[in-house]
Formats: sequence, C-alpha cells, structure tokens
Amino acid sequence: MRRMTDVELSGRVVLLREDLNVPMDGRRITSARRIEAALATIREALHAGSRLRLLSHLGRPKAGQPDPDFSLAPVAEYLSGALGQPVPLLPWNDSVWSAPPPEPGQLVLHENVRFLPGEREDDAALASRLAGLCDVFVMDAFATAHRAEASTHGVIQKAPEACAGPLLLREIDALTRIIESPERPLVAVIGGAKVSTKIELLNALLDRVDGLILGGGILNTLLYAQGFSVGQSLCEREAAEVARNFLAVASARGKEIPMPVDVVVGHLPMATSEADVRPIDKVAADEWIFDIGPLTIARYRTLLARARTLIWNGPVGVFEYEQFAQGTEAIAQAMVQGGAYTVVGGGDSLAALDRWHLADRVSYCSTAGGAFIEFIEGRHLPALEALEERGERS
Ligand code: 3PG
Repeated sequence: MRRMTDVELSGRVVLLREDLNVPMDGRRITSARRIEAALATIREALHAGSRLRLLSHLGRPKAGQPDPDFSLAPVAEYLSGALGQPVPLLPWNDSVWSAPPPEPGQLVLHENVRFLPGEREDDAALASRLAGLCDVFVMDAFATAHRAEASTHGVIQKAPEACAGPLLLREIDALTRIIESPERPLVAVIGGAKVSTKIELLNALLDRVDGLILGGGILNTLLYAQGFSVGQSLCEREAAEVARNFLAVASARGKEIPMPVDVVVGHLPMATSEADVRPIDKVAADEWIFDIGPLTIARYRTLLARARTLIWNGPVGVFEYEQFAQGTEAIAQAMVQGGAYTVVGGGDSLAALDRWHLADRVSYCSTAGGAFIEFIEGRHLPALEALEERGERS
C-alpha cells in the first residue's frame, strides 16, 4: 500500500476518508474516541499544507434524503474546537461538486456521505464524482474498511492518486501483530449477544488462540447447549447445536475455554434489580444471568494473568449497572495488569475501559467494531484490497 507519508500533499486537494461515525444521544456525541483517533491524521495533512476535504458517514440514513438526525454538524463543531480553526460543513448540493477547495492548511467537512444515492452500492459514477473532488484520496477509515462503498472502495480505484492514512496503518499493524506473530499464550475474551453472529470469529480464533473466555449471550447459549438452565437470560436456543459443535472442536484441539462455576443473576435488566450469586447449576427459571460470579472471576484472572497477548471484544456482563459490573471490571483490569500486549476493539469494551479509566493503559484500542472482527476472521476487507491493488499499480 502507498502511504500518506510517501505522497506530496503541499498545495494539493486531499480527500480524507475517516470513520467519524460516533455514538450519539440525540445530537450529543457520547464518545468522541473515533474523532480523537482521526485528529493526528487531520493535523498531519494540514501541517503538510494540503487543502483538506474530510469525508465520513454517520449511522445508516436513507440515501437521497438528507436527515438532520444523521447530520455531521456535531462532528464539525467538535473538530473545530479540537483543531482551533473553523470546520465548515458542506451539504451535498449541486454546487458542492464545482465549489473551490479550501486554501492550503484549511479544511472542510462534507456532510454525511451516506446521504448520497449510490454510496452504499459502491456506485462507479459516484466514486468518479468523489474522485473528481481531489488530487489525492487518503483512506484512513479502518473501521469502515470492511464496507465496499463508493467512498471507501470505488473512489480508491478512480482517484488521481490514492494512499493509506496513518490511522488505518496503525490499526493494521496492531491487528497483524496479534494474529501473525503473537507472543504466547494468546487469550481472547469475546462477549456479545449472539453465537450466530460471532461463530465465524470464534472458529477463526480457535486457529490462533491458546485460551478463550466467553461472555454475554454467547456464554449463555453455550451453557444452555450443555444442559444448564439459563432462566430468562439472553440466549440463542436455536444455535445450541452450533454451540455444541464449537465446544467439541475446541476440546478436540486442546483449546482452553473455561466455563463459569458461578454467575450473578437478577430479575430484570435494570438499575434497581437486586443481584444474587448462584452456582452455575442453580439458576432459577425466572432469573436472568447478568454477570459472571466471584469464583469464576478468580479462575479467569489466572488464565488472563498467564497470557502474553490478549484480545478483547465484548463485555462479559451488563456493566452499565453497578451490581452486574464486577466481571467486566475484572476483565478490564486484567487487560492492563499482566504486562501482556493487549488489543481491545468494539464500542462496548472501549466504553468499559473508559468507565474504569484504563484505556490509556492497553497496548492498542481499535476504533473498529465490525472491521476489527472481520480482520481477525482473516477476511479480505474491500478497502484494503483496493489500496493494495492501487499500490501495485503505482
Ligand atoms: C462501524 O461503526 O462499525 C462503522 O462505522 C461501519 O458502520 P456500518 O456498520 O453502518 O457500515
């Protein structure tokens, strides 16, 4: 891949694709992590004297219907505060395609690129139009690299020059290190609602990890598949067979997947719900499993403390509520205590690290959710493939 640092940017119009798809509560940004991660690239491009056009999507709006609920206006405001310079937000009207670019060292943010018809379909005509906005296209949005869209894939093929941004390269380096040459033992902690959506990740991890700790609905489904009562818990009963097969393969290959010996249960997923610890075979029919119990935490700690490399994606309990947060807190602490190389990805795990002020102490926090998982699964990410092809051609 060509790198942004190898390309002359001074005086040139740079179209920089970032993933500024940040979580919002109404119009308030609840985590600016992705914007913060993009700032270094933005500053570098401005410092190099580029005339910078910034591009991102936000959420999944309907194409062709600019919707204020999906506007990047709060992001423009945040950027302007962080950079200490104005960041005008340009709507996708007819004149935007021929409007003069910003002056060297200045930037604009284009409105949500998913407002454009053809973006999500990777439409070639739209990709050419986007390419026409720049001299150099920089793909820095690793978190969207698994999407073949006009602004993440097509434009790479059409732009006068295309290269990879520093954030995208940092993400690739961190993830490549854990999957290609991890110091062992390598242990992964995977939480999440459904076995069916993460089974490919779990299977791929079996090829790479020495130990695997599971949590959330995934764990409940494994428990159910092994004949335990999980009461009312989030559980994918129809995936029991898949779960049993997975455990059989893991055991045949000698992979350590410790099962909980106790759990924390409640009666409703809410702040006022009382928490009780139960041995794993004593969950009542009207109870929900909301966390792992203290004996289980102690077991997991031992496995995590031995690890030299750790991957974490997905909390092990409903950590939003204090009484169900101990398991996830223990995982978060274990990430930073043993001196292992640690990579954490996915919004919930990062929110957990933030909650206990531990994010600065893990080796690498990925900005990606879906792309993080697909990369570890060993899938080809369309944007990365396009960058590699362009790199070979130049
Ligand atoms: C993400 O949040 O994973 C990326 O921004 C991609 O968003 P999408 O799932 O809506 O394509």
